[in-house]
Amino acid sequence: MQFNYVNPTRILFGEGEISQLGKELPQDARVLVIYGGGSIKRNGVYEQLQSALSEHQWFEFSGVEPNPTVETLDKAVAKVREHEINYILAVGGGSVIDGSKYVAAAAPYTGNGWDILEGKHTVDQAVPLAAVLTLPATGSESNAGAVITRASTHEKRVFHTPLVQPKFAVLDSSVMATLPERQLINGIVDAFVHVCEQYITYPTQAWVQDGYAEALLKNLLRLGHEYDQRATREWQDNLMWSANQALNGLIGAGVPHDWATHMIGHELTALYGLDHARTLAVVQPALLRQMIHDKREKLAQCGQNVFGLTPGDDLAERTIDAIEDFYHQLGVATTLKGNEIEDPEAKNKILAALEKHGLTALGERQKITLEQSAYIIDGFIS
Ligand code: NZQ
Ligand code: ZN
Repeated sequence: MQFNYVNPTRILFGEGEISQLGKELPQDARVLVIYGGGSIKRNGVYEQLQSALSEHQWFEFSGVEPNPTVETLDKAVAKVREHEINYILAVGGGSVIDGSKYVAAAAPYTGNGWDILEGKHTVDQAVPLAAVLTLPATGSESNAGAVITRASTHEKRVFHTPLVQPKFAVLDSSVMATLPERQLINGIVDAFVHVCEQYITYPTQAWVQDGYAEALLKNLLRLGHEYDQRATREWQDNLMWSANQALNGLIGAGVPHDWATHMIGHELTALYGLDHARTLAVVQPALLRQMIHDKREKLAQCGQNVFGLTPGDDLAERTIDAIEDFYHQLGVATTLKGNEIEDPEAKNKILAALEKHGLTALGERQKITLEQSAYIIDGFIS
């Protein structure tokens, strides 16, 4: 084990914590509040913001869409420059927070912001940013990553820099009351796969990371099994905190990572507009089956410690079936066809996109070449 770990995001967790925003922001902050399509105006979050920011100078930018596009976000960049904004407050789910990270990084850069996603510009400064989370799923509220779409070319790309990690994040689970069922389920699935990407690789004897990953997976399974309790504070708090911990860097410190399910999944969203979490449920079971020889030991460990399966030669196979059953129990399909996507050109399009984006050696051992991806795609088309 060898790593250099810090998570610098202060977490304000619990009901009513939005009221603390004013104290956390610098007195002289000129704040741009960035939000999405308006859910915050229907669940009381916007009113809470207004009162929390009453001592501050603030402006707003709305209309960040799910799978945020650079086309929309560049308008927010212009607003940051126009109003000399020196603090950004993202209020929403992963899309709004990721989009705000792009705005924070692109505003001080004089070139084309998309350069950041293509690795042509290394971010060297960013407007400070904080988040109010309204949808537990991505962990974006306390990590350094963002995923941005360019609608004009159907591309979805990732960038990471500690400069855009939120300074603080408010996690008040009572704001989840207005979440549509589809988004709640997406949150469980996305967080579940985040843990798997950092855990179902190969054994490393990292007992702390493995043990904590297993605790998070068990929580997420329980949230799925107790889905009828979703209106309770207990259920909401536990999803919000589990999803946060799944991708705040801790379980991933000093262990191998996979992320191939995510990379292939991003291409599916870019091509077909399918929700992020739904793409993961499509790709992951097929990928685990294709890579079973490399992942056998960790799959078996997961089967025993998370799903309580009995030992045996086929434990890894049964673990993959159990993961897939879990998605099915949540009503989530695990094929493209199950998501009503039937495109005879799907395989070629996905492979071409992976190649274009240099995603030709994925997974914890970089063994997922285009040839392997082709087999994985065969496994999830129908
Ligand atoms: O736009 P509004 O009106 O707010 O509505 C949103 C949106 O339509 C709605 N919503 C959010 N909170 C709500 C609510 N509706 C009612 N009540 C509330 N409290 O939910 C819809 C979906 O929101 P979105 O932010 O798109 O969902 P999610 O949090 O799942 O984010 C997905 C995005 O995050 C990226 C994904 O690729 C995708 O673009 N990811 C970011 C990661 C990261 N930064 O670390 C990692 C992830 O793996 C993921 O790739
Ligand atoms: Zn994800």
